[in-house]
Amino acid sequence: MVEEPEIKEVENTLRSCWLGTGPKVHRFEEMFREYKGSAHAMALYSCTAALHLSMIAIGINPGDEVIVPTLTFASTANAVIHAGGKPVLTDCDRETMNIAPDDILRKITSKTKAIIPVHFAGRPCNMDAIMNIAQKHNLKIVEDCAHAVETEYHGKKAGTFSDIGCFSFYVTKNIMTGEGGMAITDNDEYADRIKILGLHGLSRDAWKRFGDEGYKHYYVVYAGFKYNMMDIQAALGIHQLPRVERYWERRQRIWNRYNEAFADMPLFTPAPVEPNTIHAYHLYTLLLDTDNLKITRDRFMSEMAARNIGVGVHYIAVHLHPYYEQTFGYKRGDFPNAEWISERTVSIPLSPKLTDYDVEDVVEAVRFIITKAGK
Ligand SMILES: Cc1ncc(COP(=O)(O)O)c(C=O)c1O
Repeated sequence: MVEEPEIKEVENTLRSCWLGTGPKVHRFEEMFREYKGSAHAMALYSCTAALHLSMIAIGINPGDEVIVPTLTFASTANAVIHAGGKPVLTDCDRETMNIAPDDILRKITSKTKAIIPVHFAGRPCNMDAIMNIAQKHNLKIVEDCAHAVETEYHGKKAGTFSDIGCFSFYVTKNIMTGEGGMAITDNDEYADRIKILGLHGLSRDAWKRFGDEGYKHYYVVYAGFKYNMMDIQAALGIHQLPRVERYWERRQRIWNRYNEAFADMPLFTPAPVEPNTIHAYHLYTLLLDTDNLKITRDRFMSEMAARNIGVGVHYIAVHLHPYYEQTFGYKRGDFPNAEWISERTVSIPLSPKLTDYDVEDVVEAVRFIITKAGK
């Protein structure tokens, strides 16, 4: 949701002549670092970039295995491949949709180096169980917090449990900068590596080389990537972040309204929020009880789209996509819970910009389509 202050800030950035990585990126990093209470925050072009650099920073090498949930966006697994590792997929819990600790244990081999838990839809993973497994088996953890800016588990913020936490500010996310991402860590070495790798592998603070302090030489210390965030992007983030609470409260109200409105329908609504946790309410995922309904999930989506209501599927499990089937030999049947969800899930609108009227429109459309289709 874009508001007037960020429009003015982008305009001001365009007029300032400093469009690339500069003071606004630095300010956004500081704001996010403070919000999370981490030692370091490195702004990047995307969460995918943050995940990729995290894999390199923690030392994933060819032949290393990294455990990844199959119910996620493909980039969680792709990041492992880009670093030369092998993603080892795991099933999720059917209720929480988060990675199942039991299945993590089954997938650990002598080659396993790390786990990437994804706080799915904004619900925290069972971090007690995951941290225990990691400690026992000497594994690194990188949290995929693409959905989890506001998420907390037992009083601790998502992204601060592990070696590195990776966030997304893509257009649909709770805080957005168009494209954008952030990596946070308390580890000085990881922070340094990510910062340098994200800008061609140039020596520290190379973005300052065109600044007011006179020209400075840079030195290439790694074969890095072009993953830096621009000031134009950060111009959005520095105004969005202070509104994080307000937006969260609005999404929570919409979430509660949907729960109430669909309680008597042949639909599965999201599991209740667990005690002593904060759900980021990033996605409201309805599961259609397709065993008892005469309408398919895809037909339901078409009917919603025909009413001009945006819907999405989060996600078709990673192992069901051709690349993963062909490359790693995964097949339907390998992860029954994730498949069960993949076949039934539909995300309905959950933006803070929805008016009460919009929300009732969504409620009415869902109830009408499902009731008309019948059991
Ligand atoms: C779970 C998850 N991980 C990673 C990403 C990648 O984020 P980005 O688009 O910022 O690269 C997404 C994006 O939707 C996501 O949903």
